[in-house]
Amino acid sequence: MAPIQWQYKPFAPSEDDEENIDIGSYTPKSRTTRFKKLVFVFIAVCTTLYLSVRGTQALVRFLSKPCHSTHHWHSKVNHTLGGGLPTHFTLPSGDKIPSVALGTAGRGEVGLAVKTALEVGYTHVDGAWAYRNEDEVGKAWKASGIPRDQIWLTSKLWNFFHAPEDVEAALDESLSNLGTEYLDLYLIHWPIAFKKGTDNVVDLELTANPYPTWKKLEEMVDKGKVRNIGISNFNIARVKNLTANPLKYKPAVNQVELNFFNPQPELLNWAKENDLLLEAYSPLGSTRQVQESLNQPIVQEIAKTLAITPAQVIISWHVQRGTVVLPKSVTPSRVEENLQVTALPQDLFEKLEAAAVSHPPARVVNPSKGWGLDFDIFDDEWPL
Ligand SMILES: NC(=O)c1ccc[n+]([C@@H]2O[C@H](COP(=O)([O-])OP(=O)(O)OC[C@H]3O[C@@H](n4cnc5c(N)ncnc54)[C@H](OP(=O)(O)O)[C@@H]3O)[C@@H](O)[C@H]2O)c1
Ligand SMILES: *[C@@H]1O[C@H](CO)[C@@H](O)[C@H](O)[C@H]1NC(C)=O
Ligand SMILES: *[C@@H]1O[C@H](CO)[C@@H](O)[C@H](O)[C@H]1NC(C)=O
Repeated sequence: MAPIQWQYKPFAPSEDDEENIDIGSYTPKSRTTRFKKLVFVFIAVCTTLYLSVRGTQALVRFLSKPCHSTHHWHSKVNHTLGGGLPTHFTLPSGDKIPSVALGTAGRGEVGLAVKTALEVGYTHVDGAWAYRNEDEVGKAWKASGIPRDQIWLTSKLWNFFHAPEDVEAALDESLSNLGTEYLDLYLIHWPIAFKKGTDNVVDLELTANPYPTWKKLEEMVDKGKVRNIGISNFNIARVKNLTANPLKYKPAVNQVELNFFNPQPELLNWAKENDLLLEAYSPLGSTRQVQESLNQPIVQEIAKTLAITPAQVIISWHVQRGTVVLPKSVTPSRVEENLQVTALPQDLFEKLEAAAVSHPPARVVNPSKGWGLDFDIFDDEWPL
């Protein structure tokens, strides 16, 4: 696969601006009138230019003041090509996965979000069969005209389809909805297998031992239907249990909840030691806690200091921790804002890290009760 180019062009001026200048109509006049008019226009243009340059300088000084921290385009930090942060991480296959993705779960018009994202330079869309919107995602991608090898598409295998005989059909459905021949990454969405056609009846055997599901996913790689396979919502014990098998392909990533309230430093360190890339889902704390995340005093302080937005502080922190980050938004301005990651100065990065790990961790996403399980999905003891 050709390396994916990080298209970072969020501040490119709209081409429409130039085309929309009204050049007016031209009527021939006598030579002297035209000369006088030319002199007048020349003086007027010079005066306007002078005033606008001075005006712009004053405006720039005004906007650069810390109190206008939301005007990130005048920020003091390096915004070019990921602002000093990695634009990609390299997977065991050698594929390079873009470090910031658009999340597509949840409510809202995902088609417009994907359209906006691809226009402002995203090259990575995180989706899933369970989000029931892969057709919309596919349509928006097709309409963008971006070639297949320039976009990273992730999908996830839903809990109903863990039985080896059901995996390929589930994958085919995602491929067909997206309108593509292959996925860049396919994840086991949850370490919980439901019996097919039941209302969330757990298949205990396949839940305790996901190796048969994994073997089928490896086959999908060999068939060329997916380029990389991974897991999601696996705790350390479950990763160890899976990787204790003689794997042909080890998990490329583990997509887990990581945010200010649930920063999981042990899991992150363990993953680094074991060369397992993490992807941060609900990175802003999800809809339920996004405001609380953005309003954290330390987040606000860093945003003011660097003249970037609170969301940009948090998203940058994730990439700087060494994880792929999957912020979701259906608001075009936020979609654009969220791609603009930038390296935080080391002292500020450490301050934010310390604040995040200093309170008792609280998970936002845990469907154990909602699914009527008699155990907790994230319990380290169960049932291994
Ligand atoms: N593997 C899994 O089990 C799993 C579980 C959960 C999530 N995920 C993935 O992770 C993605 C993100 O997680 P998430 O959707 O739970 O939460 P999130 O990205 O942490 O937060 C999304 C919320 O933040 C708001 N928001 C986004 N950018 C903002 C900004 N710059 N300023 C202010 N508010 C902003 C969004 O509002 P608007 O949309 O209204 O703009 C939305 O309400 C999902 O879409 C999905 O792809 C995976
Ligand atoms: C900004 O970051 C880019 C990409 O990391 C780097 O190549 C460039 O030299 C940096 N510029 C400055 C002024 O630090
Ligand atoms: C994973 O855990 C299950 C349930 O405890 C066990 O049956 C299986 O043998 C374990 N797999 C490995 C490779 O240790």
